Amino acid sequence: GLVNTKEMFAKAIKGGYAIPAFNFNNMEQMQAIIKAAVETKSPVILQVSKGARQYANATLLRYMAQGAVEYAKELGCAHPEIVLHLDHGDTFETCKSCIDSGFSSVMIDGSHLPYEENVALTKKVVEYAHQFDVTVEGELGVLAGVEDEVSADHHTYTDPEEVIDFATRTGCDSLAISIGTSHGAYKFTPEQCHIDPVTGVMVPPPLAFEVLDAVMEKLPGFPIVLHGSSSVPQEEVETINKYGGALKAAIGIPEEWLRKAAKSAVCKINIDSDSRLAMTAAIRKTFVEKPAEFDPRKYLGPARDNMEKLYKHKILNVLGSDNKL
Ligand code: G3H
Ligand code: 13P
Ligand code: NA
Ligand code: ZN
Repeated sequence: GLVNTKEMFAKAIKGGYAIPAFNFNNMEQMQAIIKAAVETKSPVILQVSKGARQYANATLLRYMAQGAVEYAKELGCAHPEIVLHLDHGDTFETCKSCIDSGFSSVMIDGSHLPYEENVALTKKVVEYAHQFDVTVEGELGVLAGVEDEVSADHHTYTDPEEVIDFATRTGCDSLAISIGTSHGAYKFTPEQCHIDPVTGVMVPPPLAFEVLDAVMEKLPGFPIVLHGSSSVPQEEVETINKYGGALKAAIGIPEEWLRKAAKSAVCKINIDSDSRLAMTAAIRKTFVEKPAEFDPRKYLGPARDNMEKLYKHKILNVLGSDNKL
């Protein structure tokens, strides 16, 4: 069956890699995630946002994730390690409903609340979740951009002085921190970036790795989570625009920075936007190149293949979670 994150994270921290946490909203994304994980022998976290539950129906997504375990076995993986995780849980009730219906892990995102309220809410979710062996991710610090339907115009980095108190009093199993990443495809504007003279690629302003270092010093060996970790592959952005899309200059987190993070106590890296770009690029290309096609399988199939390629690349070349089963 599904597993929680406990052993997975302990092994990832020891081994210097990170578990991929990929969001899914539909069957094609789920299939691509599982195929990529099986073929690379990687543990994986399937995560469901509040928006995904509204879009696809919570019950259907849950059965899809339970089916994913059987699917992985059918694909030849004898002992798949798959987590079904609630991404950005907003209330105790949302978390409880996921726990009651078979999720193996939940996030309670109280990061926008006053500190003491975040502690109280997270602690309440932990107390409930742990009765059922469900692991809990909490968050301290606020990412710029839209998070949990709350929009912030600047980053509030995690305060390393709070993390011991937060982890101890809440009993959470992992902690999401804010070090300058943000959600979505538009993480940085071109004006914020400089061009690397050697490679010619846009380099964003640095992440606050000193905050991560300070957190790790306060909580040695404690599982840290990075949200907003899409790299926004420029070839996908170009394909989308070439075939009729209208994306603005979109710049993400350089993969090199994620590789560095994955080697540290960061043991869960959240990626959603990159998969959306890969799916959209393949569909737009197919629509233009094969305008007479109207069988959804003819464009959702290439979209699925393109997402699988992306997920494998993340596992093999960025997170290093391959060959860990
Ligand atoms: O944290 C945000 C994730 O990318 C999920 O996005 O709320 O649009 O499903 P969503
Ligand atoms: P991206 O938008 O960078 O893919 O981040 C996803 C995320 O953090 C989901 O919780
Ligand atoms: Na790691
Ligand atoms: Zn997130």
